[in-house]
Amino acid sequence: MNLVNKTEKTFALTTPLYYVNDVPHIGSAYTTIAADVVARFNRLQGHQVLLITGTDEHGQKIQRSAANLGKPPQDFCDEIVPSFLNLWDLLDIQYDRFSRTTAPRHQAIVKEFFQRVWENGDIYQGEQKGWYCVSCEEFKEERDLLADKHCPIHTNKQVEWRDEQNYFFRLSKYQTQLEEFYQSHPDFIQPVSRRNEVFNFVAQGLQDFSISRVNLDWGFPVPVDSQHTLYVWFDALLGYVTALLEPDAEATLANALQSWWPINLHLIGKDILRFHAVYWPAMLMSAGLPLPDRVFGHGFLTKDGQKMGKTLGNTLDPITLVENYGSDAVRYYFLKEIEFGKDGDFNEIRFINVLNADLANDLGNLLNRTLNMVKKYCASQVPAINQSAIPIENPLKAMGLELGERVKQAYTALAFNEACHYVLSLVQASNKFIDDQAPWSLYKQGKQSEVEVVLYAVLESVRLAAYLLSPIIPNISSDIYQQLGWGINFNEQKEGAILAPFCTHSTWGILSDKQILGTPKPVFKRIETLK
Ligand code: MSP
Repeated sequence: MNLVNKTEKTFALTTPLYYVNDVPHIGSAYTTIAADVVARFNRLQGHQVLLITGTDEHGQKIQRSAANLGKPPQDFCDEIVPSFLNLWDLLDIQYDRFSRTTAPRHQAIVKEFFQRVWENGDIYQGEQKGWYCVSCEEFKEERDLLADKHCPIHTNKQVEWRDEQNYFFRLSKYQTQLEEFYQSHPDFIQPVSRRNEVFNFVAQGLQDFSISRVNLDWGFPVPVDSQHTLYVWFDALLGYVTALLEPDAEATLANALQSWWPINLHLIGKDILRFHAVYWPAMLMSAGLPLPDRVFGHGFLTKDGQKMGKTLGNTLDPITLVENYGSDAVRYYFLKEIEFGKDGDFNEIRFINVLNADLANDLGNLLNRTLNMVKKYCASQVPAINQSAIPIENPLKAMGLELGERVKQAYTALAFNEACHYVLSLVQASNKFIDDQAPWSLYKQGKQSEVEVVLYAVLESVRLAAYLLSPIIPNISSDIYQQLGWGINFNEQKEGAILAPFCTHSTWGILSDKQILGTPKPVFKRIETLK
């Protein structure tokens, strides 16, 4: 990719860099699906997009996982990483960069960044005493612990006592600067509930945090003292910066920051909010760098009402889910059924019901029955309709003309469930319109032009629905587009070319009689309900 200039036309976003202590679970897939949807939506709008994902490979948690299997940590990481790459392929994730924190070029970036912060006088040696959760890789306040010193997030893990000499980052120095920044950038932390959470935390007074560990060698040595290993989070957050380097560029901060910095959006789960919304901006302030535009903390997924996580051992295997139901189904369920930002649940029966209702019945059948009617009543030709012949009172036209803008706003606000609901209401209105208008009886009465208006309005609504859902269900949308005579595959990326630009395809009324309709085929097969 050529160097880009940071303009309004570029959009860089990140998923967290996932720990490789185990293969990915649905929680990691959730953030990555959402990030991919945002990336695809931006690409449709003609923006140059850089989607960054990757893995966080240092620290005690990984070291222990490797040791438990009797493997050297690097070998262990190298074995786990392909399972992430494989899952992203299965889920049709179009990432641009995969950042591994064990990459040698990453060490060069971390070293240079550390030096800046060091020269700014923000790192000093001190004594660290406290309770540490290895699964979170984070010190915990005693008051936040559960009974028997269990971590509030990894509820089956006990925290461990630490009393050691560490290097500290002077977070307290940035209290006022951070508060002023939050005030002047009200959209920096989203949703509002997370912003409030951060405000309350910062208002309690920020304390310096330790950025090195002793008795741990799986990590980068502290550049000024090789007896210490850099704290995994200090190194991990900088993985976002390393990812910005062009593949053949020398690993310097100047090169990394040249094109895409500052990042437009960090997508994360709520458990790592403080790191992204407090520690990270303070580290960047210290290094004299501009801050990212936005940090969005989504909620947690539960399974059948139970908390889910790698450490808790009740995870939902995303690979099995995709193999059983396909990538569009998985992507659709999590984004349609859960308000992004709130916690949400996975339950297989509900999952099947939602997919059958929305994708098989409402959307899939609508296309199928309409194409069959076009075959019967219009000799398989898209009716040649003059747009002005369809009155604005036509319910589908009225909805369709406004839909693109509404859905755009929803995607921009990361309100994926709203985007789906808006689109589905057009689909449902289209089903109702067919039932009300009964083109079969209009046809019998010889009202051919009325039949044509009805079928055109419905086909065009299905097209618009497919287009607007394409960031979420790219395979189904491609199938629909192909049946409507467009040779567009929403999974295809052509450098510099927008296959179906938002400015034209998001409007209602572009379907023309020039389109050669394809053979009607189900776009989503009904799933048998579980007994
Ligand atoms: N390595 C750190 C991130 C460093 S970013 C510079 C990390 N990794 S993680 O693999 O443990 O978690 C990655 C993401 O998965 C987090 O955003 C976390 O919120 C998310 N999830 C983990 N369990 C989850 C659910 N049960 N539900 C939804 N997301 C969850 O943290």
